[in-house]
Amino acid sequence: MSKNKMKDISNFKGSSSYVVSRELMNSVNVAVALQKPLLIKGEPGTGKTMLAEAIAESMDKELIIWNIKSTTKAQEGLYVYDTVQRLYDSQFGEGDVSDIKKYIKLGKLGEAFTSEKQVVMLIDEIDKADLEFPNDLLWELDKMEFHIPETKETISAKQRPIVIITSNAEKELPDAFLRRCIFHYIEFPDAEKMEEIVRVHYPDIESKLLAAAMEAFYWIRDLKDVQKKPSTSELLDWLQALTLSGISVDRITTEIPFLGVLLKKNQDLDTIFDVKSRKGNTNGSYNNSGYRWR
Ligand SMILES: Nc1ncnc2c1ncn2[C@@H]1O[C@H](COP(=O)(O)OP(=O)(O)O)[C@@H](O)[C@H]1O
Ligand SMILES: [Mg+2]
Repeated sequence: MSKNKMKDISNFKGSSSYVVSRELMNSVNVAVALQKPLLIKGEPGTGKTMLAEAIAESMDKELIIWNIKSTTKAQEGLYVYDTVQRLYDSQFGEGDVSDIKKYIKLGKLGEAFTSEKQVVMLIDEIDKADLEFPNDLLWELDKMEFHIPETKETISAKQRPIVIITSNAEKELPDAFLRRCIFHYIEFPDAEKMEEIVRVHYPDIESKLLAAAMEAFYWIRDLKDVQKKPSTSELLDWLQALTLSGISVDRITTEIPFLGVLLKKNQDLDTIFDVKSRKGNTNGSYNNSGYRWR
């Protein structure tokens, strides 16, 4: 495909509240052009869910979110047949229970398929479900249709939705599923990108405070013993806590106040206290990524 052609089909350019790399922008536009699901992987907090919101916003489309849990079954996304209600109605209700259609409730994919306008369909955290889940959806996502035997109806997408699927990479997804998707891995932002993201959320943040907080943040992330590394959302919360507390900037790197905003595991808090006490909290030193610990 020529560069110009690519330009013609691309309509996702990020949004004022979402920082997007050129590669990610391209992946989105290729997936949209090829009408294939876009599978986004990356550690928690790298903006996967927010990407779908940004796509919907920038393309001015409705966003339908299907949050996947460990117990979610593929069928629930298509439709459920409410037999319990029908039985109840047959015993105590007044209406006609022979109309099965009344008891068919469309799931999120069903909703996306029947929408008059094209929607953005987010299947969020697909790796939470069991391995059958992605396989069970292959046909539906390929053909964008499914059959309801109870009513002998076939639901076909009026407009093929733009499908975004996210995964925190807890489990590997089946090959047959991967083959049908466009894949993009969101790297954890480096300091420069992170600064851009922070400024989208807090345009007026004081530069010195931000620099000190980032130094401490990346230092913690680079410690190999930290099990649950703090992510973008934790950094944003921490910056807010630091700003609200009015703490002086030099105390940020020496004391790392409000550590519980960044780290959620006891062991990780202990790790930081250990390292701090070993450093004696006074001698300057560098860790392997060049962030200074004072
Ligand atoms: N590229 C980005 N631009 C703006 N904000 C971002 C970006 N990436 C992450 N964030 C911030 O981090 C938070 C977590 O992002 P989220 O989309 O929930 O991550 P994930 O779904 O990958 O776990 C968002 O609410 C947003 O505040
Ligand atoms: Mg998410």
